Amino acid sequence: MRSYYIAGNWKMHKTVSESVALAKELKAQLAGCKEKLLVAPAFTSLAAVAEVLKGSNIVLGAQNMGPEEQGAHTGEVSVLMLKDIGVRAVILGHSERRHSYLEGDTLINKKVLLALKHGIEPILCVGETLEEREAGKLESVIGTQVKEGLKGVDAAALKAVTIAYEPVWAIGTGKTATPEDADAVHAYIRKVLAGLYGEVASKAMCIQYGGSVKPDNAAQLMAKPNIDGALVGGAALKAESFAPIALFR
Ligand code: PGA
Repeated sequence: MRSYYIAGNWKMHKTVSESVALAKELKAQLAGCKEKLLVAPAFTSLAAVAEVLKGSNIVLGAQNMGPEEQGAHTGEVSVLMLKDIGVRAVILGHSERRHSYLEGDTLINKKVLLALKHGIEPILCVGETLEEREAGKLESVIGTQVKEGLKGVDAAALKAVTIAYEPVWAIGTGKTATPEDADAVHAYIRKVLAGLYGEVASKAMCIQYGGSVKPDNAAQLMAKPNIDGALVGGAALKAESFAPIALFR
């Protein structure tokens, strides 16, 4: 039986008390869930949510991290700080980081390698804009993001990496890629991975889909052979919409 990985990215939402309340609801409602689960609250809420999630089946993730271990980097949060409070995974290269904060593949790759060095599991996000898709650049954009993002990651370390395919035009817009369209891109990502690491490693890779995943489309998306989970934004902000996605089967 396949296993799925369902992650909630809370983005820049929720105070500490609101985050704690949501984490408590999810801990209760998802106690019996058989999928791998993650929530990624804002930095300010991580420590409090870590306390709530102790002993639960939900992994604590961060939404980003600095590219250096420590030092004079005003405004950044380091991998050591995240690890210290119980963070076990980190979302890297989210399209909002790529597009609003101009993070490029080289910087993202540096963060991927740093996370792996410290035993934090990266979720590497890739995705094309509508313009790129319409210009026929889908495969070259995705291929480059995957290859550059994973530069220097060896086959053993790859096992700790998840890839999230998030078409930029589907994030927060209510537009979802059709399950067929999404699956085709996931299959392409697997092809790129097979070229880098071989068929076995490529087949074993967890590739999440993200972009307007909701309770009413999650099951159809994850029924596709190459879609192994979901990275959920808007619908992750309430237990009543996140729990049914995680409990889709
Ligand atoms: P969305 O966000 O579910 O609100 O589209 C997904 C994401 O950005 O990870």
